[in-house]
Amino acid sequence: MLEEVQQIESKAVAEIQAAEDEKILEELRIRHLGRKSPLRLVMGQIGQLPAAERPASGQIAGQAQKAIQQAFDDKEMALRQAGDTGSALDVTLPGRRPLLGRAHPLAQLTDELVNVFQGMGFDIADGPEAEDEYHNFDALNTPDDHPARDSHDTFYLEDTGLLRTQTSTVQIRVMEKTPPPIRIISPGRCYRKETVDATHHFAFHQIEGLYVDRGVSFADLKGTIEAMGRQVLGEDTKVRFRPHFFPFTEPSVEYDFTCSICHGENATCSICKGTGWIEIAGAGMVDPAVFENVGYDPEEFTGCAFGMGLERIAMIRHGIDDIRLFLENDLRFTRQF
Ligand code: PHE
Repeated sequence: MLEEVQQIESKAVAEIQAAEDEKILEELRIRHLGRKSPLRLVMGQIGQLPAAERPASGQIAGQAQKAIQQAFDDKEMALRQAGDTGSALDVTLPGRRPLLGRAHPLAQLTDELVNVFQGMGFDIADGPEAEDEYHNFDALNTPDDHPARDSHDTFYLEDTGLLRTQTSTVQIRVMEKTPPPIRIISPGRCYRKETVDATHHFAFHQIEGLYVDRGVSFADLKGTIEAMGRQVLGEDTKVRFRPHFFPFTEPSVEYDFTCSICHGENATCSICKGTGWIEIAGAGMVDPAVFENVGYDPEEFTGCAFGMGLERIAMIRHGIDDIRLFLENDLRFTRQF
């Protein structure tokens, strides 16, 4: 049977390819693909073959049918194009360049930061964007009456849970599953009920870092952040730490990098407002209460954590003045990076 089918196929394909116009092609289509075509006759006989031969025979016939159909489609296209020549198709025009995709500026920055931290021995961890209150607040030592819990800041989901307001949730999720030592970063999207304007958005991105071991000190935190700043914003970048408060770190700081745009020399710099410093993120030493929540012994282990907003860093780097651009998917914007 195989031979017979092959003959039918090659004859049909040859005739189709030789067809001179669409009328002949249509006749050939009926002759070779129609109900009374040789191939259909062969197919009709498959049912009478011994059961063991049927599947293979069916497959062979099916493939032939596909090949004939393909030849028909190709020829039809070719005849149409030929018929159009001189009107719509100008074969001398240059071809259309296919649109090449590329990574979104935030994805590029994420990749870069991941590389920097991997170079310092950090692993990547991930956590859900739809979270529960426990991981977003309670386990992070955020008291019931903390203003961040207020529905003005947090999107609560209909039944239970919320959209995470920070990537610090991943600290908890990792520590729950893994005994120390830990050295992870976690990039991801977060949500807060913000009124959207040039510098605020209800969806934004952070990278969280967590380093827990025996004897981790504030010096580790400073060194890590300084090394990151130098690699991402330039070798001459300096870091400044200011005291701050976060429920889950003690002591807590906010850190600023020297302005890589004006280096403090432009009193009207739109990025640092002439101060020479740009605020990047929060950090601190992990609060012992957090360790207790995940079952770590705070007497034995210490840790530092940091979190930073990616939009902010990307805006500084590229001189972008409107945070909304990151989420609009406007190719005129994203193709610039
Ligand atoms: N999660 C904090 C925020 O979103 C930042 C932070 C992370 C602070 C880790 C300290 C330690 O503002």
